[in-house]
Amino acid sequence: MDWTYLVIWFLSLSVSECRQPSDSLLDVEVQSPQYPQPYSPNLLRKWDLWVPDGYKIQLSLTHLDIKASPGCDHDSLTVLNDEKVLGKFCGQENSTGKEPIISQGNRLTLIFQTSDFDAELQQHVGFSAISKAIDMDECSQSDPGDDSSPICSQICINSPGSYRCSCHRGYKLHLDKSTCLISCGRQTFDKHEGHLASPRYPHPSPPSLSCKYIISVEPRFNITLNFTDSFHIDSTDTEQGPRCLHHWLQVTIPNREPMKLCGAKSPGLIDTNSNTVTLEYHTDVEGLSRGWSLDYGTSVIDCGEPEPLLNGGVTFLTDFQNQYGSVVQYHCNEPFYTLPGGKNVTFTCDANGKWSSNHNDVALTCVPVCGQPTKLISTYQRIIGGSDAPQDTIPWQVLLNVDGRRAAGMVIGDRWIMTAASELTHGGEPVSEDTVRIYMGSSDIETLLGCPVFAASIHVHPEYNNPNLVNFNNDIALIKLQDPITFNSSVMPICLPAEDATYDTGLLG
Ligand SMILES: *[C@@H]1O[C@H](CO)[C@@H](O)[C@H](O)[C@H]1NC(C)=O
Ligand SMILES: *[C@@H]1O[C@H](CO)[C@@H](O)[C@H](O)[C@H]1NC(C)=O
Ligand SMILES: *[C@@H]1O[C@H](CO)[C@@H](O)[C@H](O)[C@H]1NC(C)=O
Ligand SMILES: *[C@@H]1O[C@H](CO)[C@@H](O)[C@H](O)[C@H]1NC(C)=O
Ligand SMILES: *[C@@H]1O[C@H](CO)[C@@H](O)[C@H](O)[C@H]1NC(C)=O
Repeated sequence: MDWTYLVIWFLSLSVSECRQPSDSLLDVEVQSPQYPQPYSPNLLRKWDLWVPDGYKIQLSLTHLDIKASPGCDHDSLTVLNDEKVLGKFCGQENSTGKEPIISQGNRLTLIFQTSDFDAELQQHVGFSAISKAIDMDECSQSDPGDDSSPICSQICINSPGSYRCSCHRGYKLHLDKSTCLISCGRQTFDKHEGHLASPRYPHPSPPSLSCKYIISVEPRFNITLNFTDSFHIDSTDTEQGPRCLHHWLQVTIPNREPMKLCGAKSPGLIDTNSNTVTLEYHTDVEGLSRGWSLDYGTSVIDCGEPEPLLNGGVTFLTDFQNQYGSVVQYHCNEPFYTLPGGKNVTFTCDANGKWSSNHNDVALTCVPVCGQPTKLISTYQRIIGGSDAPQDTIPWQVLLNVDGRRAAGMVIGDRWIMTAASELTHGGEPVSEDTVRIYMGSSDIETLLGCPVFAASIHVHPEYNNPNLVNFNNDIALIKLQDPITFNSSVMPICLPAEDATYDTGLLG
């Protein structure tokens, strides 16, 4: 006990006596005037005793010698606690065996009163008492009787002049210094699986909770929350439907809108596709939530197979397969296709389980390479007097069969053949696409005819008008193929001129 810390003093407000505050807890003697000489008549003397908060006064009468009268009506010593009389004394008594008087609070009043008598015949000496400050054991105080709660909701620790409250494990002392609240401030979970539940689950959740749970595992992992069926978080019916107004469990996954859960339906499984998730459980003094519990598990993030690339391919640069951190590179089937800009496009399996690109502006398409035959013709000649074109030197050249007539065309795209409008009209009308067959990929006619390609539609220039075969203006038409062609050394598009290109006459085409 640290007695030096405790200060006690007594004040006497009696008519004559005025004690200075004392700075010690020493016992204080209070005596009737002139004690141990006989007291005088017609006295009315009052002592107010007080000690600091947290202490009580223990008053021991060491000697009492007051003229006795019925009900001590004449001469008396009265001890009061506030207005309440604790005892009225007269007669003769020793302290021996007498219980001391203990104040309820930290104050006690003594009143010594004597009657009108002949002082010469008076032999009574009055009283002598010892008053001391004793520690009040706040902890053992019974309930004040009104319905108020005990001074400490869990553990009470008495100390001289004071007391303090403490809480069991898992609880923390509220700001009011007496109530114990569930301690759920901030808990972090870093194991690959675990269990979380609302405080006191399966019992209802206490009010005024503000709990935060953080699940955080290595970036390779993906957290899945599995709520059990018994789920109940108070929700409030509003005009807009049920709302999580007073109680909620907020689930926050990085880069996503947080979700507030409440109601009586278990959310079941939540795939976070993330390696961190924060849960915040809030209750206030209104409403009642029966609580929730969940198991969480983790699995390695898997981005799935990377998207295939038409006329190209994808290569794994790491050996994690489709898992987090894996890097793949896309390429086009050279030399017939190329990636626009010729960029080295890699994708990485990210923490969100997505393949994310190093060039996020790239449209991943393999563009056909035009006009680059793998074999070149060494001599150029007019058709008249010409010679056979070696295989693969004019890979855009196709043979057309239009309703039994032969014609020629060229590949300009993977679905498009360009030819003359005069080849695709009959009597001024476009022929039906059913009558058209396209042959490509070989300079050997036998081989060529073995494998026709079919037309999906015919598009004749709208201003081509040559019913009598005299006006060959706008003599151009397109055939759309039913299926796209995959280019190779034998089939490749010719390059179209630029949109605004002009040509001088007399040049070799
Ligand atoms: C009070 O105590 C004294 C000695 O301590 C004794 O002589 C006396 O008789 C006692 N008086 C009464 C009234 O008990
Ligand atoms: C979720 O938990 C339930 C038990 O509450 C269990 O039966 C079920 O298999 C779990 N689901 C997953 C995907 O772990
Ligand atoms: C995360 O785990 C869940 C459950 O195992 C799974 O369904 C989901 O595809 C995983 N997500 C990723 C990105 O791997
Ligand atoms: C593309 O990436 C591959 C492999 O990472 C590398 O060998 C090649 O040099 C790169 N090409 C360019 C143009 O950066
Ligand atoms: C080239 O492509 C054409 C059209 O798809 C096909 O008919 C031909 O067999 C292919 N040639 C080679 C050498 O792959």
